[in-house]
Amino acid sequence: MKEYENTEKLRCIVEPLIGWYQDHKRVLPWREQKNPYYIWISEIMLQQTRVEAVKPYFQRFITALPTVEDVARCDESELLKLWEGLGYYNRVRNIQKAAQKVVELYDGKLPADYDALLGLPGIGDYTAGAVASIAYQIPVPAVDGNVLRVISRLTENEEDILKQRVRKRIRSQLSEIMPAGAPGEFNQALMELGATVCVPNGSAKCGECPLAEMCGAKLHDRLDEIPVRKKAKERRIEEKTVLIIQDGEKVAIRRRPSEGLLAGLYELVNFDGHLSENEVLERMKGYQLTTLRIFPIEQSKHIFSHVEWRMIGYVVKVAALEGSQHLDMMFVDIRHAEEKYPVPAAFGAYAAYLNMRLGQEKYTGGEL
Ligand code: ADE
Repeated sequence: MKEYENTEKLRCIVEPLIGWYQDHKRVLPWREQKNPYYIWISEIMLQQTRVEAVKPYFQRFITALPTVEDVARCDESELLKLWEGLGYYNRVRNIQKAAQKVVELYDGKLPADYDALLGLPGIGDYTAGAVASIAYQIPVPAVDGNVLRVISRLTENEEDILKQRVRKRIRSQLSEIMPAGAPGEFNQALMELGATVCVPNGSAKCGECPLAEMCGAKLHDRLDEIPVRKKAKERRIEEKTVLIIQDGEKVAIRRRPSEGLLAGLYELVNFDGHLSENEVLERMKGYQLTTLRIFPIEQSKHIFSHVEWRMIGYVVKVAALEGSQHLDMMFVDIRHAEEKYPVPAAFGAYAAYLNMRLGQEKYTGGEL
């Protein structure tokens, strides 16, 4: 179905949805008053667990810390204690950082501005949308998993809702149909419908849904198939040992095969597996290189779409024997290596050492 058709179709949901919400909305402690601080805290807690489970945590939190100022100056251990049981402790640390910023910049009042909210630690487009629309009636969507499910079922959208592009489009469709006079009600109605009626795992209660007659997935009996969530393919883990082989001012690089991953690009010399220092020394002998000094450097990880490299590294200072054969590797001047032979970002952590010539002395390693 074309996008504009969906947007037009979606326009028809506004009235019945809001009507349904007014009759069926749950009574929730953070819904009683439109206190932006309460809405913020509840929305962060709701990202972790269900409404019923959140209620006691929410009550405990706002009783101990009734205002943004209280959060800003709360002792960290007390703060973590108040979050105990909810998990994801970084979220509450971000709440405190954001609270401090709100005190500093906005006189302790969460800003009534979507972009300013987005600028606060731990607040992404969902939370900014929820706070802006529910607390301040700013017409911006708040798209969580429930909303994605409701909208993709209504429009019978088979695209993967885990894709950023799909979420973005749903956001923009919702922006177009959002009623200017009731954005907070509209967003909450969609979330509420997703949480209580249009639920996942074969339990949707279409008999109770105010939008059942307009629902593509219901019409074509596809509730089990929509929404689509494609799990990312499992990545193959590959262990590698990356070597910064230095002969005076020169460093060894080599060209990757002309096919496959990073085809034809230059790279630092590397081997499959995590090699010990002795194993690396053996390899150097195979290359007819005399190792003067070897020392380990940091570990690093690089994620490609289907493979993940887990790398360990060594700096290996060598002296090339006269006439020695280095097979596939070439020694290039460190100063020009970067411009002439760009090394893929996968080796970034190690390539950084090449730009740090002056700092190299600080790495210690036993002379051999
Ligand atoms: N889930 C998360 N936030 C919600 C809200 N404001 N209303 C209903 N369900 C929600």
